[in-house]
Amino acid sequence: MSEKKYDIGLMGLAVMGQNLVLNMVDHGFDVAVFNRTTSKVDDFLATEEAKSKGDKLTGAHSLKELVSKLKSPRKIMLMIKSKDAVPAPELALYPENAAVDAVINELIPLLDDGDVIIDGGNTQFKDTERRTKFLQQCGIRYIGTGVSGGEEGARRGPSLMPGGDPEAWPLVKDIFQAISAKVGPNNDIPCCDWIGDRGAGHYVKMVHNGVEYGDMQLISDAYWILKNALGLSNQELYEIFAEWNKSELDSYLIEITRDIFTVDDPETGEPLVDKILDAAGAKGTGKWMSQLALDLGVPSTLVTEAVYARAISAMKALRVHASKQLSGPKDAKFQGDRDEFIGQVKQALYASKICSYAQGFVQMQAAAKEYGWKLDCGKIALLWRGGCIIRAVFLERIKEAFDADPNLENLLLAPYFKNAVEGAQAAWRNVVKTAVELGIPAPGFTTALTYFDSYRSERLPANLIQAQRDYFGAHTYKRVDKPEDESFHTDWINVKKS
Ligand code: 6PG
Repeated sequence: MSEKKYDIGLMGLAVMGQNLVLNMVDHGFDVAVFNRTTSKVDDFLATEEAKSKGDKLTGAHSLKELVSKLKSPRKIMLMIKSKDAVPAPELALYPENAAVDAVINELIPLLDDGDVIIDGGNTQFKDTERRTKFLQQCGIRYIGTGVSGGEEGARRGPSLMPGGDPEAWPLVKDIFQAISAKVGPNNDIPCCDWIGDRGAGHYVKMVHNGVEYGDMQLISDAYWILKNALGLSNQELYEIFAEWNKSELDSYLIEITRDIFTVDDPETGEPLVDKILDAAGAKGTGKWMSQLALDLGVPSTLVTEAVYARAISAMKALRVHASKQLSGPKDAKFQGDRDEFIGQVKQALYASKICSYAQGFVQMQAAAKEYGWKLDCGKIALLWRGGCIIRAVFLERIKEAFDADPNLENLLLAPYFKNAVEGAQAAWRNVVKTAVELGIPAPGFTTALTYFDSYRSERLPANLIQAQRDYFGAHTYKRVDKPEDESFHTDWINVKKS
């Protein structure tokens, strides 16, 4: 009797890996698993849940054995755990993930032409670009896929963002779309579709994460303003977030924020959120997005500000010291109608969120041009509609905006978002003004408003910057009244002054 062959192999049995495997089996696929620490394979297979899957699940104690158990063309998914989060200032020291390269090198001699390797980690897209090209030369098809939704998502339906070698897509499409989250009126539209060539999937996942950083910072701005300007309790914050989650802000991150305010610390019985050290960690995807925005010259200010906000939060000891030395506005108190202000904070959050997503899509469009991908922004909005961390009702509106105009330059120009932001702006400005007057940091709201005001300005003071550059460095400038291809220089020192 010939030995049973499995549909897909998965290496990396941390919780995400285990949950993806169980999800695949639940959808009818036979899966073989392997882990470098092989006791994890046995431990996993000994769990009640794994045992209940019968012969749909098998283990391997080496890569070679894993490969030997797979149907041809073989599909091997790597869920190699990324490094643990570190305090944001240490991100500069964060090493690139070399573990995936090591496994790929081990796999190459074991595989045949046309087999598929899939990297499901949060990988920097340039590594995925390089690996796809390299493996193509070896006859192996490579996919770098974003997997979002955390442990629960992996088990019940993640959002998947695969990119890489397009020839690999038909080979994994059924598995990927079956296990992904579903949206739509009949709950049958998979939150998984092919994103594009080489590193496109990992790029889009990185932008997802950067937008996640923006959302989290904006929600934290709202929390901090409500808590400090109005002195709201956690119970009151819970009620506000519960209300907001029934509105256009309806999203996973608002929902979990609401619930966080209800959890007590088992040790002290006090609200747990107040016991948590205010020093944010980060694994690096937000930083990557910000760095790559700088490379492209696109203003992704929300994610950048969110990364900096995490960095300054992580400098806890320095802040404690500075708080004893530097004072803010004296005796500043919130004046005004509390309920009205709560409504204004909600509008500030919504308008800022729109700017954040607008920036994310602008960056993806610029990256597509730079790196030669064809990205479908409406499709990406749909993939983010369910399963992932930034899933939100509002992504439906984004999809509609790109469906109506696939070449939409900026979400702020789509009628729905234009109206939303213009309608919110008086409230938004008042919230930023109040935060500034009271000395409450609101980096997300403030940078979003600056972006909005800059983007909608026909003229900016960059004429003066150009004059300064020309003055000290003869860098030349262009004129508003002359063709764009002409450059001018002035001898600023000897020119006649008025
Ligand atoms: C997801 C998350 C996931 C992870 C982040 C956390 O989409 O499921 O984004 O990828 O939780 O990497 O990132 P930080 O540690 O940088 O906040």
